[in-house]
Order: sequence, then C-alpha cells, then structure tokens
Amino acid sequence: MDSKKEEVRQKHIRLHMEGALTARDKVGVQDFVLLDSYTSESAFVDNLRKRYRENLIYTYIGTLLVSVNPYQELGIYTIKQMELYQGVNFFELPPHVYAVADNAYRMMCSELNNHFILISGESGAGKTEASKKILQYLAVTCPMTESLQIARDRLLLSNPVLEAFGNAKTLRNDNSSRFGKYMDIQFDFKGIPVGGHIISYLIEKSRVVFQNHGERNFHIFYQLLEGGEDDLLSYLGLVRNPQVYLYLKQGRCARVTSINDKDDWKTVVKAFSIIDFNETDLENLFGIVASVLHLGNVHFVEDGDGCVTIPDSSQIRWIAKLLGIHLSALQEALTYRKIEAKSEEVLCPLNIDLSVYSRDAMAKAIYGRTFTWLVNKINRSLANMDFTRKTVIGLLDIYGFEVFDKNGFEQFCINYCNEKLQQLLIEMTLKAEQIEYELEGIEWEPIQYFNNKVICDLVEEKHRGIISILDEECLRPGSPTDLSFLEKLEEKVGKHAHFQTRKLAGPKARKKISWMEFRLLHYAGEVTYCARGFLEKNNDLLYRHLKKVLCGSKNGIIKECFLVEELENRKRPTTVGTQFKNSVANLIDILMSKEPSYIRCIKPNEGKEPSKFDDFLIRHQIRYLGLMEHLRVRRAGFAYRRRYEHFLQRYKSLCPDTWPHWHGSPLEGVEKLIKYIGYKPEEYKLGRTKIFIRFPRTLFATEDAFEFSKHQLVAKIQSTYKGCVERRAYLKKRQAAITLEAFWRGALARKEIKRRKWATQIIRKFIRGFINRNQTLCSENEDYIIFVRKNYILNLRHHVPKNVLDKSWLKPPAILENTSEMLKKICMRNLVRQYCRKVTAQRKAQMQQKVITSDLFRGKKAGYPESLSQPFAESRIDEVDINPKVLQLIGSEKIQYGTPVVKYDRNGFKARQRQLILTQKALYVVELAKIKQRIEYKALKGVSTSNLSDGLFVIHVSPEDTKQKGDIILLCEHVFETVTKLFMVVKKEDLVQVVRGSLQFYISSGKEGTIIFNTGQEEQIYKDKDGQLTVVSVQMKS
Ligand SMILES: Nc1ncnc2c1ncn2[C@@H]1O[C@H](COP(=O)(O)OP(=O)(O)O)[C@@H](O)[C@H]1O
Ligand SMILES: [Mg+2]
Repeated sequence: MDSKKEEVRQKHIRLHMEGALTARDKVGVQDFVLLDSYTSESAFVDNLRKRYRENLIYTYIGTLLVSVNPYQELGIYTIKQMELYQGVNFFELPPHVYAVADNAYRMMCSELNNHFILISGESGAGKTEASKKILQYLAVTCPMTESLQIARDRLLLSNPVLEAFGNAKTLRNDNSSRFGKYMDIQFDFKGIPVGGHIISYLIEKSRVVFQNHGERNFHIFYQLLEGGEDDLLSYLGLVRNPQVYLYLKQGRCARVTSINDKDDWKTVVKAFSIIDFNETDLENLFGIVASVLHLGNVHFVEDGDGCVTIPDSSQIRWIAKLLGIHLSALQEALTYRKIEAKSEEVLCPLNIDLSVYSRDAMAKAIYGRTFTWLVNKINRSLANMDFTRKTVIGLLDIYGFEVFDKNGFEQFCINYCNEKLQQLLIEMTLKAEQIEYELEGIEWEPIQYFNNKVICDLVEEKHRGIISILDEECLRPGSPTDLSFLEKLEEKVGKHAHFQTRKLAGPKARKKISWMEFRLLHYAGEVTYCARGFLEKNNDLLYRHLKKVLCGSKNGIIKECFLVEELENRKRPTTVGTQFKNSVANLIDILMSKEPSYIRCIKPNEGKEPSKFDDFLIRHQIRYLGLMEHLRVRRAGFAYRRRYEHFLQRYKSLCPDTWPHWHGSPLEGVEKLIKYIGYKPEEYKLGRTKIFIRFPRTLFATEDAFEFSKHQLVAKIQSTYKGCVERRAYLKKRQAAITLEAFWRGALARKEIKRRKWATQIIRKFIRGFINRNQTLCSENEDYIIFVRKNYILNLRHHVPKNVLDKSWLKPPAILENTSEMLKKICMRNLVRQYCRKVTAQRKAQMQQKVITSDLFRGKKAGYPESLSQPFAESRIDEVDINPKVLQLIGSEKIQYGTPVVKYDRNGFKARQRQLILTQKALYVVELAKIKQRIEYKALKGVSTSNLSDGLFVIHVSPEDTKQKGDIILLCEHVFETVTKLFMVVKKEDLVQVVRGSLQFYISSGKEGTIIFNTGQEEQIYKDKDGQLTVVSVQMKS
C-alpha cells in the first residue's frame, strides 16, 4: 500500500518537473547558454541584436543578466510585471531585472544570507536605472507592515535627493551619477524591508567649479533656480537665471529638453520632508547651495601694489550671511594666505590665480562635504533601530568605465574602480569557478580569460603603484609638478605592459599621446589620461586660513562638516587617491562576504537613441565586460553547485530514503536522492564535497519538485502541529474536567456527610425521645413528641373515616389518646353534620319513617334488618290505578298511601287481591270499584304482625264496634312499610303488636280465629286441619 502511494507521488513529481520544463523551453535563446555556437562573438552579437530589435533588452548568461539600454520607455516595469515575477523560478519567465531581484530576495529569505547585486557597464548604459528598478521592485513586492511603510518610502525617496546633489548631465548621460553608490537594503527575518544604509564614493567635486561644453553642474543648482519659490530665492540672494552664475554657464547648456528641473525640484522637496529634514536643515542646505553660486561670482582684481581685492562685495556679503561667517574674515581668507613662521603668523597676499584657486577650493570643499553630510543624514533616517539580525541585499551602482577626449584624475579613479570590480567578478566567477572544479576533482578544460589583476596592481600596489607614486610626489619636498609626477611614472612603471607615455610609445602611437599624458591599457580598452591637475586634485588642498573661517560658521551643516579638531590635527591628511583606494578596498571586502548577482549593462549607441544598435560599440563592451569568457565558463561548467550536506538538507524530502533523516555520509545521501529523482548521468557530476549540476533546468525542476513536496510536508507538519495543539488543549480541558469533577464530588461528599451527621443526630434524638416518650414534655423528648404528634396527625389525614358508618380510626400513640378521642369525636360530628346536610327533605321524611319502623320492629320481627336498605315508596299504587268510583267515594280525603294486598277471609281464609288505601281519616280495603271495608282510625284497635319474616298483618277493630265487620287479615309484600305508614296516619301509641307463635283475631261478635306462625322450608299460607291459618315463613339466616 505504502509503496504504491510512493510510486504515485514520484510520478507526480516527475510530471510536474517535465511540465515546467516544456513551458520554459518556448522562450528560446533568452539565455546565451543555449546558443549553439557559444564561442562565436558574432553569434552573441546577433542574438543580442535580434532581441534588441524586438525590444527584448534583457538576456541571461546563466544567472548573469545582460541588459541593453533601450533609451525608451518599454512598459515593462508595471506593477503587473512585478507581480508576474514575484516568487517565480528564475528561468520560468523571460529575463528581467525583476527576476534577478526576486532571485536574490528569495535566496536571501530561504538561506538567510547576504546578497549583492553588482550593476556594471559604462556611463549611460543604464546602471542607475536598473538599480532604481530593483529598489522599486523590492519596495513593492516585499511584504510590508504599516509601521514599516515609512522605511520603504525613505529608501525610495533617498534616490531623488542623492541624484539631485550627485548627478549631472554629461556628454554621455543626461543623468550621470557623479558619485559611486553602494546601498544596503536591510530585511528582517520575515523578509520585510526595515532599513537601509548608503555608502557613497568619491563625488566629482571638480564639476562644481567647472564643466565641459555640453555638460552641466549638479542638478540641484538648476532645480533650485527653476523651481525654488520667489521668497526662497530672494532669501538666498539668487536670481532665476543660471546664465548669471559662472559655475553654471561654462557648459553652455543650462537648459536641456530631457530634464525638467521644475518637476524634479518638487520631487526633491517632497523627498526632503519624508526623510526627516526640518526647516533649519533645509535653510542651511540651500544656504550652502546658494553660497556656492555666489562664490563662483566672486571676482578679484589686482590693485597697483599687486594686492588682490574684491571690488564687488555683494557676493561675499551673501556668502557671509548664508554661511554665518564674518565678512571680513572671509574676505581676508580669500585674498590672503596665513603663513606660520615659527610662533608668528604672517599674512601673505595672494595673486589672482591663487585667489581664484582658493575660492574654487572653498566651493568644492563645502559642496563635497555637504554631500557627505547629506548621505549621513539620509543614513540616519534609514537606520533601523531594532538590532535583531538582519539580512541585506546590497545594490552597487557605481560610475561606469569612462573614456573622454580629455581624461583627468576623476576618470583615473573611476576606471580604477571598474578594474577592481572586474577583478572581483573574475575572482568570484571565472577564477573561483575553475579553481573549484580542480579542488573538487571534476574533469574540466580550463578556459582562457584575461585576468586584469596586473592592471589593478599597476594602479594600487604599495610603493610601486601609480597611486603610491602620486602620493610620494605630492609629499615630496621641493616643487613637485604634474610633469615631475609623469616622469616619476615613466621611471617606476615605464616597463609595465599596460602603461604608456609619449616617450615610451612606439612611433605610431606617439602621435596620439601628448607630453602631459600617460596611457593605461585597461581591461576595457586604452584610456589616455592628462596628468595635469593630478597633484592638486590628489592633495585637495583647502587653505588652513579658509578652513578656520569655515570652522567658525554658524550654518549648522558647515559647522558639522568643518570640525575644529581637524585644524588642530597637524598630520597631513590622507590624499584623495589613497582615500579612494582604501574605500574601494573596503567595498570589495563588503562585496566578497556576500552572494553575488550580476547585471551587465550595455550601451547600444553613443547618441542616446532608441533602437540604434551600434555593432562596433557593442562588441567592444562585450569584450571588455568579459561576457564571452563568462559564457564559455558557463557552458563548459556547471550551472549550479552545492555542498553535499546543503544539497541534501534542502532536497532530502524528495526521497523517502533520505527523509526525514539521513544517517550515512552526505555524498551517499545525495547519490540516493538524485537516483531517486532520476538525474541523468550527463546532468551532474559529483565532486569531493559538492554536487555539480550542469543545466539550470535540472536544478529548476528539482526546485519545483521541492516546492511541491514542501507544500505536502508543510501540510503534514501543520496537521501534526494542529493535532498536537488540539491534543494539548484537550488534555487541558480533560484535566480541568477532572479537577472540577473532583471538586464536585468532594462537595457532594461533604454534603452527604453533613446529611448523615444530621440524620444520626435526628435518629439519636428520636431514640432518646422514644425512651423518654412517657415523661412530661422536656428537652429530651420534646422533638420526639412533636414528631409523633405531627406524624400521627399527618398520618391521620389519610385515615380519616369516609362516612358516618365507617368506624375505623387510626390507633393513636399512648400520649395522644386523649387528643385522638377528641379528634375522633370532632371528626364524627363533622361527618354527621356533613351527612345531615346532604340529606334531602324527602330522604329525611324517609328516614323519619324508617325511625318509626325501627321503633316498631327492631329486634322484634325477622327480616327487619333486610328491609332497612329498601327505601319506602310514597305509595305503591298510583292514583290512576285506583278506580275512579272508589276515588269518588273517598272524596275529599287525601290519599296518603296505597298498596296492593292479599286479603284472607276471616272464615275460610280465602285469599283475594285487594287494594289497601290509607287516607287521613280512614283505611279502605278496595276491590276494583268497590270499597269492601272502611275503617276510620278512631275505630282502629291495633295492628298485629308475627315476629317471623312473613308479610302477614292483622288490623284489629274493636268487637264492640258494630259498624265494623271484624279484623282484617292482610298479606303485603312491604309489610314494614305498610304498617309504618298506617302507624303514621293513625298516630296512636302501642298500635302495633308483634306476636310470637300465634295470634287471635276477631271474626265477628264472640267469634275468634287463630293464626299460627311457623318457620319451614318454604313460605306458604294455608288453612290447617284445625281450621287455623298457618303461616310458614323461611327461617332468616341472621
Ligand atoms: N531600462 C531602461 N528603460 C528606459 N530607459 C533607460 C533604461 N535604462 C537606461 N535608460 C535611459 O538611459 C539613461 C541613462 O541611464 P543611467 O542608468 O543613468 O546610466 P548609468 O547609470 O549607467 O550611467 C537614463 O536616463 C534613461 O533615459
Ligand atoms: Mg548612473
């Protein structure tokens, strides 16, 4: 399963690599390395031309960028383009200065090391533009925080300020940098630009006081005059016309169409505000600029005594005012020289030439030092105060190789610097590369290239180099001159193959060199220097007298630039040449410690014209820039090399054997790794300590694969990390839950223990109460008794009798017997009351009747208890069932009760169906429509029943009562009811008799009958053989 997964992964990596490669191949010969005839200069030029025609100004030689100045806006520096190149692999897109910048930036971020981009080429080839493009690219594309935006703006805006003061129009370039500039851009660990530092090199001070035809002074002068507000100009005592000022009009081209001084002024003023310049700084700064202009116009005349005077003091008044120095002191310093003779100071008048010299020296000195001050000031505003470790990208934009008709000390210095940079390039690329192959034991055919070390030595060697000779000549007692210097050169370096003078040259070359000139065969071609002015410029002398005046200046900048300590230091100052040599050596050291990227700028023509491709000029540049050698080395060599451990460290994730840890030797690890990712044998070589990869595309593909796998790894790391974080959070929560639980359980347990304690106390109290329950109420039994009471009462609630007949009652504890009795009574009374209230009038009547029945029969006649439950009816016969005739006969007597009865004859005991009707007055025995017998109650003697359960009763009349027929023997189903009703209407005491055994009844006068009452198996009534009526009733069980 795992191996299958791995196979898929590997396939994916391969596909990814191949896809990227084909995309890249479409770009054609954008890399000279891909040229077939890579040794042919013509093929090189052709390719360059072809591309230039298509406005493709950039071409690679490996990672080196060749750029041809287009002299036109190409629209390839848009934000969109910047975004396009951001984070893309170097060879993936067409060559561009952005690709170089991005590559350096990415490498810096991933490897956390320092880089520099060296931009070289001759004046006007586009170096400054390239460096600006790089700076812009980094400023725009690097990540940015709001707080660091100001740092970025300052980095960008330091440029216009430095260009205003350090650039000028020359014949070659309308915006020629007249100073060298090395700028470090500092990045923090996140790759955010946080600050910067600038080092400037040898500004061409002589330009302040003199310009060739067609050239201008530094831009700032023209910008101030063009753009400065009227108020400012009048404050500075200036007029808005460069032609008025000697220092501006010598070049005869104060106005140039390609330069808009007014707009540039605005940019510069805005930049000043961003990079921390306050009002006073600007006042001082422009005061100095104006002073320089005024100085140029200071005019000297010689009076009769040979003394020099300044006829028009208005200029020096302005200078004195603007620089805050004494007018008279300034005047004196410009026209006299103080000579110190032993302890005395003697004032010695100057002639006109010397006065002009000292004036110009002053102008150069204040301008030159102000420029240095400016750089320092900018550095302070760029400085990043956070001292964590930074990585930097250095941008070196230094004056290119220069050849003029007349070349002076400046050109000498500039060209020397270019020699040194060429040397650096050789050291870092050509030579280093070849040495490396040898060291690594890689098979390799050495490439021939010109090593310009000899020329560098010629210039800089201690005691023997041109600079040393110049210094010696400057310091020499006696009267050294430029000519004597030239002679010294001939004497000391005359034999050097790269040095020539008129005297040393052959007859042919001689014509081209004048007596005051010497010629150096630079790596970039011959340059003839005029030795005139070398000594003076090397000394860069400012009379002590003048220096002293400047030290007393009230202008803040001048005060900072001219320190009193300098006056007190009697040591001879280092010469300009040596200073420059040292600073170049420093620069080389700075660069050597960093990873290089190169941009080689080529100037396509001398006319600053777009799309003009001057073959001759270009071939020359290709040659001296060493591009062909570079290409040959590139082709023969390997595009990339890396120490095994570093290579392995970076790419080990691409191979399962080396990931995550490789325990064997790095070489074996790399072998495993490249075998796994499928390098072909011709693509690489393994050296002693390094792997060499021949083609960029191989590395590129590896890098792509790495990018791909990195994402996967990152996802994995991320998920592991997230898992870890979650688990930690989970454990924390769990711990918290456990703690909570424990606390809660504790709380519950404590509660429980409290409850139990309470319970035992209660139980104990209960027991004690129980033991003492029969004592009188005391603290021992109080609660118990209360409890028992309460408990009993509460219990009683559920056992209260439900009705009056319910005689149950909860047995009370002993102490409550009285209470219970009382309660029982109350309860019963209450029940009775309730019962009574519920009883209706009808029922009451019923009850009353029942009570009467009870009086009559209870305990006397069987069947009484059973009868109790049968309610009495109002009547057993409805009025409608009574014959109307009978009703009529009864008349007004209200019928109280009626019931069907069986009447037995007194004689034969024949049974007949009759109705018994009771009225208020009398009782009637009715047979259908006939009243058989009527007995008024008054005549009623009594009523008899048996004590047995039969329903027979006898109504007795008095035998004396003649009106009556005799006693009536009746059988009735509801004997209790009927007898009770009769009793009620008759209202006579002792009316009803309950007899046992037998009864006598009256038949007619003197004649009596007997009724025998018996119990038996079944109910029957019959006349027995004795002629008596026998009534048998069933024995009741109860
Ligand atoms: N990439 C470019 N695109 C357009 N114009 C350019 C470019 N590079 C240089 N130039 C033109 O060439 C002039 C000289 O370039 P610059 O960089 O000042 O030369 P250098 O610094 O090498 O002396 C610029 O002022 C500009 O007009
Ligand atoms: Mg420049």
